[in-house]
Amino acid sequence: MCDSEFRHGLLRLVSLMIRFSSVLLGLALFGAAAASPGAAAETGAEAWLRYAPLDPKAANNYERLPGQVLVLGNSSVLRSAQQELVQGVAQMLGRSLTLGTGSPTADAIVLGKLADVHALAPGLNPPEELTADGYWLASSRVRGHDCLLIAATTDRGVLYGVFALLSKIARIDDVSALDEVRQPYALLRWVNQWDNLDGTIERGYGGPSIFFAGGRVREDLTRAGQYARLLASIGINGCTINNVNADPHILDDTFIAQISRIADVFRPWGVRLALSADLSSPKALGDLDTFDPLDPRVAEWWRKKVDAIYRQIPDFGGFVVKADSEGRLGPSAYSRTHADAANVIARALKPHGGVVFYRAFVYNHHLDWRNLKNDRAKAAYENFHPLDGAFDENAIVQIKNGPIDFQVREPVSPLFAGLRRTNEAIELQITQEYTGQQRQLCFLVPMWKEVLDFDMRIENNATPVKALVAGRIFHRPTGGLAGVANVGADANWLGSPLAMANLYGFGRLAWDPTLSSETIIEEWTRLTFGNDPLVVRTIAALQLDSWPVYESYTGPLGAGTLTNILGNHYDPGPESSEENGWGQWHRADHDGIGMDRTVATGTGFIGQYPPEVQKLYESLASCPDELLLFFHHVPYTYVLHSGKTVVQHIYDSHYEGAERVQASIARWKTLEGHVDEQRYRDILARFEYQAGQAVVWRDAICNWIYHLSGIADVRPRTSDLRPQTSYLGLSDVGP
Ligand code: GCU
Repeated sequence: MCDSEFRHGLLRLVSLMIRFSSVLLGLALFGAAAASPGAAAETGAEAWLRYAPLDPKAANNYERLPGQVLVLGNSSVLRSAQQELVQGVAQMLGRSLTLGTGSPTADAIVLGKLADVHALAPGLNPPEELTADGYWLASSRVRGHDCLLIAATTDRGVLYGVFALLSKIARIDDVSALDEVRQPYALLRWVNQWDNLDGTIERGYGGPSIFFAGGRVREDLTRAGQYARLLASIGINGCTINNVNADPHILDDTFIAQISRIADVFRPWGVRLALSADLSSPKALGDLDTFDPLDPRVAEWWRKKVDAIYRQIPDFGGFVVKADSEGRLGPSAYSRTHADAANVIARALKPHGGVVFYRAFVYNHHLDWRNLKNDRAKAAYENFHPLDGAFDENAIVQIKNGPIDFQVREPVSPLFAGLRRTNEAIELQITQEYTGQQRQLCFLVPMWKEVLDFDMRIENNATPVKALVAGRIFHRPTGGLAGVANVGADANWLGSPLAMANLYGFGRLAWDPTLSSETIIEEWTRLTFGNDPLVVRTIAALQLDSWPVYESYTGPLGAGTLTNILGNHYDPGPESSEENGWGQWHRADHDGIGMDRTVATGTGFIGQYPPEVQKLYESLASCPDELLLFFHHVPYTYVLHSGKTVVQHIYDSHYEGAERVQASIARWKTLEGHVDEQRYRDILARFEYQAGQAVVWRDAICNWIYHLSGIADVRPRTSDLRPQTSYLGLSDVGP
């Protein structure tokens, strides 16, 4: 066998190993489903709204919970709130609440708007500054009865208050003497779904669309309604239902009637339906010969289209727009700006109270990779910073957390600090495109916390990203968070029961970014798996470890996820990043690795940050290890703050990562008998599969770095590694 045949054989073997392990996962999951005891098994469909019966001792804590529910007002959202309360209490405590009207005739839980509650009990001292969607939970005497008030300025706030109360009961929190005001941190808390009209989902790993099938809206929208309920329970108030790479036909007049059926199932949960729109729609749908945003005919087209939508969907939220990005048409076709494009749509939405999220994910994907000064990371700031102040008040620039694309580790986008007279939203990715695609565990809340807490030091003041996007620093009228969720028709929504912690965590952070990762995961685990301390401790620890573990074997020192960027974004494929125009470069060569983004000698990207942050990243002495290769090109022998060389860190972290995944299996096994059989087996199979994948990653990356650098691991682990012909991505190598 000649050398190249051998190498080809090796690649085939690894490729087959991956396929085999996928098959094993499939078989294991099938086995789990087959072995589970049917009705008693938990599919994960209820997610964190299981309302599992409390054990009698815990249920005793709620003996004094009022037995009557009184709803002041009548709306579909208030009806949801009432039904949810009745259902939750019945399931958890085995008690049937009676429904009252008018004023309480017994101890009651009173739901209503502040004004109505106040009218019922004029002696109350309601909180003065309750913003839209905020709520007040208060224990109080009302007309001679002990009452628990759930009051808000909007019906949606009341619904959120009910979910909060039920969450407390499920987690065995004290509710006997409440006086609690909770306000959302940001006004706009949306999820984006990337569903296609044919029923597929771009970067979706939880089955086909719950909204579309075969080019139409599904007949049965039960899951869509259940999704809205889940979203409402974590405070999400808007949802775009179709891919940002939008099919213009979503705006066909005939389609709007179909879409309005989805809005109908969202409405009782206070979730506003929104759409991704293609900027070229006026032309693409055949109505005009142009989509120039400054052409009055185009403005008129958007106005009429939007009016038609609101006639059928009166609470329509608005649009998300991806333009001039990855082949999508945009304002550059007419030499117009992104502000021109956003504003023509914003103006059509304004009279109806809608908003347009205009995505800053705009970059040239045909960059010349030979030019060391080129840098995709600079694109968002270069495109949008000059337009600061040019966007209308109901337009929001939606900015991905990092300057590249949802990698396992990136610095925050400098654009968050580059807009002062423009509304902003941060876009986070719940679906794990680059972080294991839900087949591997990666709890992203700790990553999002780092981003939201990152202090931009604008004018040397505390200016964390969370406050910037909520519009709090520059007193913007609106702003918020958008999470790319991509749930699907799989029973457990995201494909993996543990991945749902990311959706839950996104909502909780959008509501209150000051919550700690520990608090969020403890809440989620209790709600999803019950209050057994062993279960809570073990699952929370596994989740909290999972991002650093995933990073350790897939994306060292800020070099980006070393995956196959040209294919599945999942397998190792470090060379796929190079020698093409996509700009996800790590610039690894025989001497060193990393992108020089310094102002002094590199692309100058660092210069886009405010001065204090520039200083932090520009100097090798202060640049944190975990972002070193994002900002600097260094020799493999460069010594990190940790005391290790770069190359040794890469070897060690890959071996440690693989070992830590292996150790997760044993940790998970301690829960046998403590969680239901179906989820126990499903998750066990996933950890076993992930342990195999981590070894595949470890070997591929260690092998690659060894043959590139020529520097062996100080521990005798890579000595028998043989060079491969290609590191472009294993999945793209045919058998
Ligand atoms: C990533 C992702 C695409 C998506 C794009 C976007 O590049 O791979 O599928 O369309 O982000 O956010 O627009």
